[in-house]
Amino acid sequence: MRSCKFGLISLLLWIATVATFAWFFIHGNTTAGTDRRTAIVMKASEREFVLSEMRGMLVATQGIMEGANRGDMQAVIKAASAAGMGVAADANPALIAKLPLDFKTLGMSVHQDMDDIAKAAAAGTPTAEILKMESNTLTKCIACHSVWQLQAVH
Ligand code: HEC
Repeated sequence: MRSCKFGLISLLLWIATVATFAWFFIHGNTTAGTDRRTAIVMKASEREFVLSEMRGMLVATQGIMEGANRGDMQAVIKAASAAGMGVAADANPALIAKLPLDFKTLGMSVHQDMDDIAKAAAAGTPTAEILKMESNTLTKCIACHSVWQLQAVH
C-alpha cells in the first residue's frame, strides 16, 4: 500500500514537472509590454543576440532585393542563405526556453523562407517570383513586430 502511494506521488511530481516544462515551451517568459505589445523577458546579452540576428535579417532582405533587381541570382543566394536555418541553430537553449511557441514558429518559418528563396534562386526561378516570395516573408516580419517586444532584465 505504502509503496503504491509513493509511486503515485512520484507520478504526480513527474506530471507537474513535465507540465511546467510544457507551459514554458508554449508561453515562454513574457509580461505586459510598454506599448500594448507583449514583452519577452530575457537577459540583456540575449536581447542583444536576438537584435543582432534581426539586423542580419534586414541585411539579407536588402541583399535579396538588390540581387533580384540586378538579376544577380548568386547575390540573392548568398544574401538569403546568410539568414537561413543555419543561423537559427546558433541560439542557446536557455534563450529558446524564454521564447513563446508562436514566436519560435514564426521565427523559424522566416529562416526557412530564406532557405527557400536561396533554393528558388539557384533553380532559376524568375525574378518576379523571387520578389513575391520575399514580399510574403516581409509580412511575417511585420506580423511578429506588431505583437512582441523584447525586454531585458539585468
Ligand atoms: C518571430 C518574431 C520576429 C520575426 C519573424 C522578425 N522579427 Fe525583427 N524583431 C522582433 C522583435 C521582438 C524585435 C524587437 C522589437 C522591440 O523590442 O521593440 C525585432 C527587432 C528588429 C529590428 C531592430 C534591430 C535593432 O537593432 O534594434 C530589425 C531591423 C528587425 N527586427 C528586422 C526584421 C526583419 C527584416 C524581419 C523579417 C525578414 C524580422 N525582423 C522578422 C521579432 C521578429
